[in-house]
Amino acid sequence: MFGNCQISQKFDLSEHVVVYPGDCLKLLNQIPDESIQLIVTSPPYNIGKEYEKKLHLNQYLEQQAAVIKECFRVLSESGSICWQVGNYVERGAIIPLDAVLYPIFNELGMQMRNRIVWHFEHGLHCSKRFSGRYETIIWFTKSKDYTFNLDPVRVPQKYPGKKYFKGPKAGQYSCNPLGKNPGDVWLIPNVKCNHVEKTEHPCQFPVELVERLVLSMSNEEEWILDPFLGTGSTVVAAIRHNRRGCGSEVVSKYVLLAVDRIKEEMKGTLRTRPMNKPIYDPEANGNGVTHFPWAGSKDRKQMALFENKTLENIR
Ligand SMILES: C[S@@+](CC[C@H](N)C(=O)[O-])C[C@H]1O[C@@H](n2cnc3c(N)ncnc32)[C@H](O)[C@@H]1O
Repeated sequence: MFGNCQISQKFDLSEHVVVYPGDCLKLLNQIPDESIQLIVTSPPYNIGKEYEKKLHLNQYLEQQAAVIKECFRVLSESGSICWQVGNYVERGAIIPLDAVLYPIFNELGMQMRNRIVWHFEHGLHCSKRFSGRYETIIWFTKSKDYTFNLDPVRVPQKYPGKKYFKGPKAGQYSCNPLGKNPGDVWLIPNVKCNHVEKTEHPCQFPVELVERLVLSMSNEEEWILDPFLGTGSTVVAAIRHNRRGCGSEVVSKYVLLAVDRIKEEMKGTLRTRPMNKPIYDPEANGNGVTHFPWAGSKDRKQMALFENKTLENIR
């Protein structure tokens, strides 16, 4: 599908890939009503990154509302919007952005299907609160008849050989052989310095996160949009699964990065972390801490009891 195709700067339904170098409202303005199947984005969080001017929260929400309203207009009846956000921080106090953005989607009559918790294990270390290790993806649909394909995103069962042991199905496998529903808590590494996808952009999301959304909420040839495109991760995921992809980005150096990555993807040479690659496990790799140096005797006693050891073994 993408062999000889060009990256267009202007949206047209006949195109396959569009990267608009400018404000998302201008790209949205070019898109006909109800023509996009899936919108996946991570907007600026209003935390003063180099590409944003920190606004009063209400002003920020007004800006977001204008974009979300346009996204709603271009979304097809069976379509979905996935808004990936973290926290806004004001003098050390956190405001979860999904909570304050929810009313905007709700007032448009959209229905929330999941609040997916994206859990990751790396980030800033806080000293006055627990370190933040998750963000969320709030998933809304325009109607009750929305696309949701579970089979392409099933994950391995924990006990694949498990069978019913009684009743009419005794002896048959009790779980789906294609795998299980991945649930709404996704452990996927975030793009920090050792990640294969890391570029100079300060907050990319990983392509595998978007792939799961693309596969489950759209079908081949349909349009996927990211109004805040950054390094092009959403369009990369779209192309990889034979969808059409479009997005806008205001910062020229990120537009260039996005275009480079999309070209690599079209050639089949872009390196990304494979979907469903197991998470690095330090213990399995012989690097685990087997004894917490700070653990007190109560912890050791409970551990010994848990492991059915006799109390004489406990120091
Ligand atoms: C959180 S980042 C998105 C990163 C992206 N998900 C990725 O994987 O690279 C938000 C991006 O939106 C861009 N941006 C901010 N305001 C914009 C606007 N009005 N129109 C288009 N892009 C905008 C920023 O420059 C930034 O690159």
